[in-house]
Amino acid sequence: MVTGASSGIGRATATALAEIGASVIMVCRDEARGKAARSQAISESGNQSVSLMTADLSSLAPVRALAADFNANHPKLDVLVNNAAIFTNERAVTPDGFELMFATNYLGPFFLTRLLIPKLQAARPARVINVTAPSTVMPELDDLQGERKFGSIGAFGASKAADLLFTYALARRLEGKGVTVNAYHPGIVKTNLVRGAPRAVRFITSILNVLMGVSPKRASVGLVQLASSGDFGSTTGALIRNGKPMNAPFSDDIDTQDRLWQVSCKLTGLPEDV
Ligand SMILES: NC(=O)c1ccc[n+]([C@@H]2O[C@H](COP(=O)([O-])OP(=O)(O)OC[C@H]3O[C@@H](n4cnc5c(N)ncnc54)[C@H](OP(=O)(O)O)[C@@H]3O)[C@@H](O)[C@H]2O)c1
Repeated sequence: MVTGASSGIGRATATALAEIGASVIMVCRDEARGKAARSQAISESGNQSVSLMTADLSSLAPVRALAADFNANHPKLDVLVNNAAIFTNERAVTPDGFELMFATNYLGPFFLTRLLIPKLQAARPARVINVTAPSTVMPELDDLQGERKFGSIGAFGASKAADLLFTYALARRLEGKGVTVNAYHPGIVKTNLVRGAPRAVRFITSILNVLMGVSPKRASVGLVQLASSGDFGSTTGALIRNGKPMNAPFSDDIDTQDRLWQVSCKLTGLPEDV
């Protein structure tokens, strides 16, 4: 299962996984874009085993419905790639009352992953991969929704750091249980991720893209290796870039990992134990 599969790294990864013979579920929020991406993935890979599930990952109800639909119709899940993300310039609030980037980039994937753990364990050995970056922006645990102070760059960075904290927290909880959990840093990739970002961010990103950006297809290579290669069979709790673990922010900060875990369980109504 690849989330955010309608464009960019997600679409390229879903296609590349189909190319190596996987049965792929593309999770997209927009049905029309999802159908177009699915058709493209099938025609490029030659693999008909590509299906589409639609869900807006920024809200808890659609995530719960997505997981229920998957759990009712599939015996197991080998690989979950949490890839979907958004960058918004203004503070927006979801129907659940969460800040949009926090909800889309972190809390929705947290909730989805937790709801799919039984099916991941049914597939032992299984893998969870969170696509993120080595963000050093510490999430404000007492203001996660940016109600007191909001800046779009900081909020985006904090949401991607939360993905890292979640990766380490879940990896520890699933140690020895047949499900590995890693983060993947794709480097600088030419996508439309920052289309909603402030003008300065779009400008800097456009320069970086010209200087060092790679295509989504190129970025998907390492992600597919992390998802499928025996080389990563026992790797867990790592941030991987270019096929190697890299130094990662917060990997040793167990206290923050656990405090974010506890808050996230409260916000989603899930028990703390996996
Ligand atoms: N590009 C880079 O340089 C870079 C660097 C490091 C990490 N990353 C990470 O790579 C991942 C993929 O980003 P990308 O660069 O490929 O950007 P992208 O092309 O904008 O892809 C983002 C995907 O997420 C989907 N999405 C957004 N909000 C959603 C929601 N509420 N529910 C479901 N899906 C939603 C988008 O769907 P729509 O088509 O409907 O908008 C799109 O398919 C992100 O996690 C990003 O943080 C990217």
